[in-house]
Amino acid sequence: MIYMLTPEREKAKVRTKNKVQTKKYEISDNLRKLGLGKTYHIKTYGCQMNVHDSENIRAILEEMGFKEVDDMEKADLILLNTCAIRENAHNKVFGMIGRIKHMKEERPSLIAGICGCMAQEEGVVEEILNKYKWLDIVFGTHNIHELPSVLEKAMNSRSLEVQVYSCEGDIIEDIPVKRDSKYKAWVNIMYGCDKFCTYCIVPYTRGKQRSRNPKDVIREVEKLKTLGYKEVTLLGQNVNAYGKDLDINYDMCDLLRDVAETGIDRIRFVTSHPWDFTDDMIDVISEYDNVMPYIHLPLQSGSNKILKMMGRRYTKESYLELFHKIKDKVKGASITTDIIVGFPGETEEDFNDTLEVVNECKYDSAFTFIFSPREGTPASKMKDDVSFKEKEQRLYKLNDVINRYAKEANEKYLGKTVKVLLEGKSTKKGSTLAGYTDTMKLVNVKTSEDKIGEIVDVKITNVQSFSMDGEMVE
Ligand code: SAH
Ligand code: SF4
Ligand code: F3S
Repeated sequence: MIYMLTPEREKAKVRTKNKVQTKKYEISDNLRKLGLGKTYHIKTYGCQMNVHDSENIRAILEEMGFKEVDDMEKADLILLNTCAIRENAHNKVFGMIGRIKHMKEERPSLIAGICGCMAQEEGVVEEILNKYKWLDIVFGTHNIHELPSVLEKAMNSRSLEVQVYSCEGDIIEDIPVKRDSKYKAWVNIMYGCDKFCTYCIVPYTRGKQRSRNPKDVIREVEKLKTLGYKEVTLLGQNVNAYGKDLDINYDMCDLLRDVAETGIDRIRFVTSHPWDFTDDMIDVISEYDNVMPYIHLPLQSGSNKILKMMGRRYTKESYLELFHKIKDKVKGASITTDIIVGFPGETEEDFNDTLEVVNECKYDSAFTFIFSPREGTPASKMKDDVSFKEKEQRLYKLNDVINRYAKEANEKYLGKTVKVLLEGKSTKKGSTLAGYTDTMKLVNVKTSEDKIGEIVDVKITNVQSFSMDGEMVE
């Protein structure tokens, strides 16, 4: 019998008082040779957290000797770094697992595995053990640093190796990283989430809230600056709650100020929970030129009844008050949001409350979703009598309004000159490069490729709902 460590939902729910330690990443010399002469391919689903985790996984694999290939068909090792937030994310992954099965039938030496948030789900791992036993490895979000040893066991035994912890462990510093960009970087400031919004699976898949030590965050930003990075995005499910779990008296305002003082050109942060957004935070954002005037402020719903059922701990009124405070104090701020339609019990009237908030806030843009019941969450057990068709219609209606305001917000930029960090080639015909403004607007520009990585002045000449075109101001 092979030893397996599978996730348990009941344990994942628990918030222990265990003190979180900070440890250093280590890899033994023999594991550094395991991947020599072999190739890997990793597919990433989900949020920035997962994107950044994949940057760590790639570096770990390369330290072991593996080389990255773009073509999955040519890889000796395939990893799917998965997301569990909605059912369609699930379905995509199981679709891909089906494709990999065919590849493995043709090439039995292929090693395939899943990691990320789906690997933390009890039901998913059960399904894998029942139907997809031919997979080689399953590891979770809490033990990315153990990938080398998990991989070694799977390669030696040539059988499925499952190693997923139900609960979070320590914070591991100095995990190597192979970043996607040379100019902008993701920087974790905290892990996990303790908010337990009733619809959300993240507190189960990512564990309890754990803030990194400020000095480790600042050290990372300083190093990035030295390496020539122009932009950092501080990452957490709930960045405004940063530091609340630390023994020292130090919060998100302190961190933002200290990161701003490093002098790196651009600082962003996601995601802000409206509940923890303090006036001091707004002051810090407006005080520093290198803290970008861009805030993602998820609304989820504009109905007080639904917000209460979601466990969001703010009301439509307090959200609007915060929204206007930010708009008043942070000059030219762009604010984006997330909205869920069709939460259990959402009536036409509740939905209209959401539209009302959208009409008042006129967001720069928004991510909109149909509620997706997630196994084990309180909302998945709530009575839901609105048809899917009706929910779809609400989503279309909402998207129409959102897109109209997005275009309106962009139109204000016509003729203006803005700063753009040119990140790389544009996908748009007739443009060469693309990048983002301080306010996170995508801009296509015609200019020479040696400008990649620079923050330049661009005059906006044309706008659409989701992007703009501009000309370099020499
Ligand atoms: N920590 C962030 C959200 C992370 S998840 C916050 O609190 O704002 C990203 C978005 O996915 C959420 O804002 C929400 O709009 C959406 N989402 C989460 N769970 C969902 C579910 N079960 N069904 C539909 N959308 C969901
Ligand atoms: Fe999910 Fe709520 Fe935590 Fe965001 S704050 S990750 S929506 S539980
Ligand atoms: Fe998905 Fe996990 Fe992020 S569920 S949205 S990848 S934290």
